[in-house]
Order: sequence, then C-alpha cells, then structure tokens
Amino acid sequence: MKDQPKRIAVLTSGGDAPGMNAALRAVVRASVFYGAECYAVHQGYQGLIDNEFELMNARSVKNIINKGGTIIKSARCLEFRTPEGRKQAYENIKKSEIDALVVIGGDGSFTGAVIFNEEFEFPIIGIPGTIDNDIFGTSHTIGYDTALNTAVEAIDKIRDTASSHNRLFFVEVMGRDAGFIALNAGVGAGAEEILIPEEDLGLDRMLESLKKSRRTGKSSSIVVVAEGDKSGKNVYELAKYVEDNLPEYDVRVSILGHMQRGGSPSCFDRVLASRLGVKSVELLLDGKTNLMVGLKDNEVISSSISEAIKGGHSINQELLRVSDIMTT
Ligand code: F6P
Repeated sequence: MKDQPKRIAVLTSGGDAPGMNAALRAVVRASVFYGAECYAVHQGYQGLIDNEFELMNARSVKNIINKGGTIIKSARCLEFRTPEGRKQAYENIKKSEIDALVVIGGDGSFTGAVIFNEEFEFPIIGIPGTIDNDIFGTSHTIGYDTALNTAVEAIDKIRDTASSHNRLFFVEVMGRDAGFIALNAGVGAGAEEILIPEEDLGLDRMLESLKKSRRTGKSSSIVVVAEGDKSGKNVYELAKYVEDNLPEYDVRVSILGHMQRGGSPSCFDRVLASRLGVKSVELLLDGKTNLMVGLKDNEVISSSISEAIKGGHSINQELLRVSDIMTT
C-alpha cells in the first residue's frame, strides 16, 4: 500500500464558480485536520507550470466561505494541454514534494487531470465546480445553485419592466452546451418559453406559444434562452424573428452574462463545497485516485473521473413537461 499523502496540493481551474472558495477552505482544513500539509496552487494549472505554490494553514482560508470567485485565481491554461507543459508541472510538483492533487473545476479541467495522471501516475481527485451543472456523476456542481438564484433574481427584475411596458424579453443565460440553468431558472421565474440545447423545439412552436400567450390575455412575456440553444439563431436573431413574424410584440433582449458566475455562494453551495472538499481529502488519504466527488440523493459519493468527462448529461424531462404546463 502506497504511503499516505503528506502534502496535498489544491487548485481551481476553468470558469470560476461561487463556492470554489468554500471548497478550497474545506480541502485546506481537512488536510490540516488529518495532519497533512496543504499547498494552494495559484492560477490553476498555469500555477503548476509557473511553480506558484503557497503553503496554507487553517487560518489562510478564514472569512472566504461567503466569497464568490476564487482567492487562488483560476485560468484556462492552454500550456497544460501540451506534453511539455505537463512535464514542467510534474517537475515542479516533485521539487515541492507534493504527493497528491485536488482539482476544483469542470470537465475541461478534469480532462487535463486524467491525462496528467495517465502520464505520471500522480494521485488526483476532482471536485465539480462549474455553474453549468453539466458533469456526469453528480446531481449538483458547486456554483450551480447560486447561479440559478442569480438568474432568477435578474429575470424577476426584467419581468417588472416587461410587464410595465407590455413587452416581450429574450433573456440569454449561461450554461455552455447544457440547458440546466435555462430550464430551472426559466421555470423558477415563470418564463413563457424556454429554449435549451437538449431539445430543439422549433421556432414555429415558439411563435405558436407566444400567440397563445396573447390570446390568453398575457400582455408581457419572458423567453429564457440557453446560450448553447440549437435554434441556429442567436438571441438577437431570435428577437428579430419574432418582431418580423409577430409585429404586435415590442421585443427586447437581455444577456445576463458573467454576473451568473459571481456573487456570494448560496448556503446550498457552501455546504456542498464543504462536504465535497472534506471527502476529496479523505479519499486521497485512503490511497484513492482518479475519482470525482459528487452528490447523489443528497449523499456524498465518488465516481470515476474519466466517466464524469465522458458521461455527458441528460435534461430532466419531467421539468420540461412542468414548464410546458406552467405556460398555460
Ligand atoms: O463554464 C462556465 C461558463 O461560464 C459557461 O457558462 C460559459 O459558456 C463560459 O464559461 C464563458 O467562458 P469565459 O468566461 O471564458 O468567457
């Protein structure tokens, strides 16, 4: 049995997500609790290549559980996609006598971690941190719940002006190629129509639904559009399409953008991040590797990180049906 890791490194990689700091805090404090040292790597994989390690103690992570973003910075590191970049990272890790790595990020970051492990047999555990919730093997990623609430609050505000002016608003939300934010924030904010990548409902159906809204006396409407929507039109083109086909509608567009990535994490995300952070350290100390921690039926679980990348995601059909019924 390999020796228990004595020095654990942790990094945040890819798009930042509210709750990443809470996960960092949990990894550091669990390491200290179990008698291991914990090194933060600044700027994600770039920090591994640039040798940016910082020894953390329990106080290093004070007062960050409520902070959005990541205090150790993140990056989308192209250099780590090269064998030379990963080799440099490994040499720096060896120089600092680091024994294991916790990667907080999304499927792109996990892909890098799996290749790194294959090349150097270096112990890694992944913590799913992305607002997109598009990772197989967990019901929730860190940051998703907060992003949902941010989107719903913004749409509620847009609803106020839409109803004041009897307007139709197209609201674009993030999610990359997944429709979780759009579908859940759409239902949560009472949107009349929701366009997601997983279901190409067709523009005619959208027009019919908007006509029906008017017939049933609705003077204002909200259409939530996932940025990865497959209608073949961007949100401005969708708005123009409706203006051309339903001239009775006064149409506006609002793109929520990066505000969905920020803000103080929700209680759900803080607790999720704390639980996953502790579990990731316990798995490493138990000699485990190549796993992703996650949530299933509110239980903390671990599953193959390779599967998490390959697994893809499926949209909740029941929720789609509910959103249909709710637009009655
Ligand atoms: O993956 C998180 C995310 O915010 C996606 O929802 C979005 O498509 C993308 O990152 C934006 O990336 P960037 O911050 O590099 O513009």
